[in-house]
Amino acid sequence: MDTMFWRLKDENLLPKKYFEVDFPMIVARKIYTIKSKPPLSKPIMESHSGESFLIDAHSLDSNRYSILAADLRDTAELEKKLKTFNMDTQLPTLLIAECVLVYMTPPQSASLLKWAANTFQAAMFINYEQVNMADRFGQIMIENLQRRQCSLAGVEACKSLDSQRERLLLNGWETANAFDMMKVYSCLPQADVRRIEGLEFLDEKELLEQLMQHYCICWATKDRCNLGLSSITF
Ligand SMILES: C[S@@+](CC[C@H](N)C(=O)[O-])C[C@H]1O[C@@H](n2cnc3c(N)ncnc32)[C@H](O)[C@@H]1O
Repeated sequence: MDTMFWRLKDENLLPKKYFEVDFPMIVARKIYTIKSKPPLSKPIMESHSGESFLIDAHSLDSNRYSILAADLRDTAELEKKLKTFNMDTQLPTLLIAECVLVYMTPPQSASLLKWAANTFQAAMFINYEQVNMADRFGQIMIENLQRRQCSLAGVEACKSLDSQRERLLLNGWETANAFDMMKVYSCLPQADVRRIEGLEFLDEKELLEQLMQHYCICWATKDRCNLGLSSITF
């Protein structure tokens, strides 16, 4: 499970408030883990003040961290729940989706992206997911997942970097960029890459490269406050 809140807290980089959203079953598991592990619960309590702390099976709300159960395909319900936990749409907001949109039909992901673009004054949306899925390697990935009863309802938008960018631009975002993970890998500090590749001997470099060509990071901005979000890049 994602540990970004705790890593940001460790580095003193917490935003005003950090929200996580997932289905009830996943959220319940994460809340149970947080409750039972002091290294996870302590940083939440440390960053909390006042009496408004709330915790039940499907939600946890503190001053700086919230996790809540919602279906991202129902944006009205999502907004209602986020506002109950004091989400402030006037603040610059970073939204991150990791292999989530690919599980929704194209109209459902379009509706989520439109909601996000229209709801926040200034926002960046970062999406990490599959790309180049129309080629032979992509088709094999789809077949492997289907064999495990996992169908990618939104794979249409994952055809290319262009289709990924286009979906963002068609749904209310002002700028959109997309890099495949090979490109991202090449932008990492090369001294670190060499050091880590030396530690971790990789005999399947070709397969890793193929995989990285089939995942991408896309980012889009909407900036009604002219904060210069569109100039943020790799
Ligand atoms: C690849 S996982 C990423 C999880 C997250 N980064 C983490 O580590 O906790 C994708 C997540 O999206 C969630 N998801 C998929 N469709 C969703 C939807 N319609 N509403 C809410 N969550 C959804 C899945 O339950 C899954 O936990």
